[in-house]
Amino acid sequence: MPPSASRLAAIVESWFTKHQRPLLWRSGYDPWFVWVSEVMLQQTRMEVVLRYYATFMRRFPAVEALAAASEDDVLAAWSGLGYYRRARMLREGAQNVVERFGGRIPSTAEELLTISGIGRYTAGAISSIAFGRHAPIVDGNVARIISRLRGIDEPVGSPALMRAAWIEEERLIAAAKSPRDFNQGLMELGALVCKPSNPDCPSCPLKKQCVAFATERTALLPRSKEKPATRAMIVPLYLITDAKRRVLMRRESGALMRSMFHLPHGDTSLLGGVTIDVRRGELLGTFRHTITNRRIEFQLFAADPTGSVRDAGDEYTWIDPRELARIPHPSYVAKALAMAAGLQSKPCAGG
Ligand code: ADE
Repeated sequence: MPPSASRLAAIVESWFTKHQRPLLWRSGYDPWFVWVSEVMLQQTRMEVVLRYYATFMRRFPAVEALAAASEDDVLAAWSGLGYYRRARMLREGAQNVVERFGGRIPSTAEELLTISGIGRYTAGAISSIAFGRHAPIVDGNVARIISRLRGIDEPVGSPALMRAAWIEEERLIAAAKSPRDFNQGLMELGALVCKPSNPDCPSCPLKKQCVAFATERTALLPRSKEKPATRAMIVPLYLITDAKRRVLMRRESGALMRSMFHLPHGDTSLLGGVTIDVRRGELLGTFRHTITNRRIEFQLFAADPTGSVRDAGDEYTWIDPRELARIPHPSYVAKALAMAAGLQSKPCAGG
């Protein structure tokens, strides 16, 4: 016999009211604030999201503001959060809401699912968290809790685990008194207590009901899956400067970080072809950075352009690093320019 759904729901709701973190979108539960938070949190860790969220919401405080903004402005505000397709889809979704729903974000998961960029998880999250509807949600956190709670021995992220988790979530949410507190409670429990490794079982409000805890399998459930191998690569970056400015290029092609401003670079496999011929100068420094499953060592070289722009599809421009916040750029660009600025402000050796 599975534990009673209403008992489990009541435990999670009560735990959430006591232990929730005070997050900006939790004061007022404005649907637009909830939507943005859920999209940012899909592939980005909470502490990183919290560094960008407030500024983004000041810039786009309502769905109409994002719908009316240019893609450049949206990508610039998203710069640093990664996975930029999410920002493009969010803008498209905001335009859908303005055009098809008169600017009012709909409350049911069915209607939300018709909006660009909103899938089953986000639809359920907005519907339950912002509107208090009995809509199920399953993300990695929820699937992990359910796998342990019910002893479901399937690999992380596998269709079998996700299917079982959706079925169980539907049973639980139907019994919840507050779908808002219950769904957020599960996610909060996954983030703070039922963590992927070293879960804090003694503090868990569900330990008495948990199959993995009773059978000492919390470290084994859900089963881990083979990770796709990360690829290590070295990418030279070229810093072309005049007194105040640096050269950046906009790349319109390629799968990753399209239509963002990049530093000229010398690797063609990840970031697209080299578009500026350069004479490579001194090595200024190196830093590590991960983009999806590539572990990259960037090597920053001083460089001079020797020719003109090779690829007509790419735009090449001088920018003052102080203006960086206004243009869409991946975070490795900010890291490289910060490194270059740090070198400049250091006193010369012996001087
Ligand atoms: N992760 C994703 N969405 C979340 C939420 N609403 N609360 C806590 N953690 C989350």
